[in-house]
Parts: sequence; C-alpha cells; structure tokens
Amino acid sequence: MAISILGIESSCDETAAAVCRDGNILSNIIASQDIHSRYGGVVPELASRAHLQNIFPVVDQALLGADTALSEINAVAFTQAPGLIGSLLVGAQFAKSLAFSLNIPLIAVHHMQSHVLANLIGGKDNPETVPSFPFLCLTVSGGHTQIVVCESPERMEVIGETMDDAAGEAFDKSAKLMGLPYPGGPLIDHYAAEGNAARFKFPEPQIPGLNFSFSGLKTAILYFIQNEKAKDPDFVSNNLADICASIQERIVSILLNKLKKASAQTGIKNVCLAGGVAANKGLRKKFTETGWNLGWKTFIPKMEYCTDNAAMIALTGYYKYLDQSFSPLSIAVSARAGW
Ligand code: KG4
Ligand code: ZN
Repeated sequence: MAISILGIESSCDETAAAVCRDGNILSNIIASQDIHSRYGGVVPELASRAHLQNIFPVVDQALLGADTALSEINAVAFTQAPGLIGSLLVGAQFAKSLAFSLNIPLIAVHHMQSHVLANLIGGKDNPETVPSFPFLCLTVSGGHTQIVVCESPERMEVIGETMDDAAGEAFDKSAKLMGLPYPGGPLIDHYAAEGNAARFKFPEPQIPGLNFSFSGLKTAILYFIQNEKAKDPDFVSNNLADICASIQERIVSILLNKLKKASAQTGIKNVCLAGGVAANKGLRKKFTETGWNLGWKTFIPKMEYCTDNAAMIALTGYYKYLDQSFSPLSIAVSARAGW
C-alpha cells in the first residue's frame, strides 16, 4: 500500500502544504506573505492572521496538485518547533483537527531537521543526486545557523551553531544598515554580483570550536558605514556593489571556514547546504569550489526546497511514519529550537 503524507509548514511567514507519497514529492504549495516588507521584518501577529487566511486554500491546492483525496492521506505532518508561536499554532491546530477528523496519525516535525532532510528530496528516483549517510549539513536561514551531522533521517546532532545572529540576519541587518528593504539578503546577493569583494575588509570573528558569531561583524559594518557617510553622504549609493560584495565575501568565509573545520574533525566528506541563505550565489559558488578542492561530495537542494516549504515537512513525516513515530493530539508547539 502506498504511504501518502500531507505536510504543513507555518513556522514563520510562509504558509505551505505538500504531499509526499512513498518518499516522492507530488506537490509543494507555498503562499508567501508580502505584507511584512512594509514593516522591515516579520510582524508575528500579522503572520498568524495571514496563515489563517491561507491555510485552507494552500492545503486544497496541495491535495489537488498531487491528485490525492483526503481519504488517501495516511498521516498529517506539521512543523511543531521552532518558530513564531502564533504562526506555529495555526498549522498545528489545522493538522490536529484534520488528523482527528480523518482518524489518522499526527506527526510532529522539527523544522530544522526537515531543512537538513530537504537534501534527500528526489533521492527515490535518482539516488546519486542525494547524499548518503552520514553527511554534514550547514543549515543557514533567517533564524538559524547550524552545522549538523546527519547519521540517518532520525539521528542528527548539532555540532556547531550561532551564538547570536543567524547568517540570514547578518545579511538582512547589513542590508538595513545600507537602507535596503527587508529581506535584504537577496538584494546583497544581487548587487554583490557586480562588485569587488576585495575592496573593503570586514573582520572575521575568532570563535573557538564550530560555533558562529555574527554580532561583531554587524557592529563593524555599522561603524564603517557611519564613518564613511560622515565623509561622503552618498558613500553607500556610490559604492553599493563593492560594499555588498565585501560583506557577502566575509559572511561566506565565516560559514565555510567552520564547515571545513567540521569536515576535518568528523572526517565526513558528504557535505550539504540547507535553508534560505543557501540561495546565495556567492555561498553556492564558494561551497562548490571548496568541495572540489577538498574532495567533498557537495549537495544543495533545489531552490524551492531551500527556503521554507512543506515538501521537507512531508518527507520528514514520511520517514517518521516508517518509524511509527507519531504524536498525541495534545502535543504543544514550541518556539524554541531544542531537539
Ligand atoms: O529558510 P528561510 O526561507 O526562512 C527561515 O527559516 O528563516 O530563510 C530566509 C533568510 C532571510 O534572512 C533571507 O534574507 C535569506 O534567507 N536569503 C538570502 C538569499 N535568499 C534568501 N540571503 C542571502 N542571499 C540570498 N540570495
Ligand atoms: Zn526555515
């Protein structure tokens, strides 16, 4: 019998649903919430309201796109943690109600684990395109920066993480300092393509072990821009491409230096990226080059599976279904990232 899982993601500002059958993704629907760009960041209350509006049509479309009736769904998987509480609650309540009314299992999924497992999407048909276990994953998003050792879909260990800002925040906050709108990460990427990355030098923090810190870099960029603007009020607009390229260069080198260290320490040479910042062209290029130089096998999920999506939730749900790892309807959501 085929196993069909409906996945629901609502941890931040994307309402998403997907259907996974026997490990293959049949549909992947995402409703983004543009309203937040007006406020320079995600407004939690507005995010919850938008989830409420979006969740029914998004789930309908996911089922339709997968040509799957509700009666064919074997379990409902949803993002249980981490995220914005109000946002998580909408997806969780929807998933619980559906599982209860259909009398099928409920599966709680950890958002960060599912980002890592996004690297396995497509592996059923093309096993050579996905990493074999164990693999290392650098997960870089707006809320998280982690290096994870993944031994199996259910066994993962965080061996390094940020002590302050996430990599996506480092991009977004730097962009804000330059007067760019939210989210600024993709804009820095865009302008950096035309810039000289060697023009300005920003400091690399000296953090022991495999952990990251981006707050010092943010402060250095703040003072740099303030000083230069005092001399030339148009400094940012006149040098935008070079500033973006130089900032991107430093964020990428901070990430990859730790990833190299993690690979050397663990001896693992299957290495993956995950999360929204994996969209960054500078990171993708340097990651692939580093892999060539060090004999890694490198993997990056398709773009639609790097940013927040429900395909990764449905696939994680599928693995948990095989393990019979179900949750009671009483399970609570959690804003915190603890595994
Ligand atoms: O994984 P994601 O979609 O949502 C979270 O779970 O946070 O990641 C969003 C983050 C934002 O900080 C955004 O600016 C960043 O990913 N991002 C990028 C790029 N595309 C998205 N950062 C740098 N370059 C990009 N091309
Ligand atoms: Zn995410």
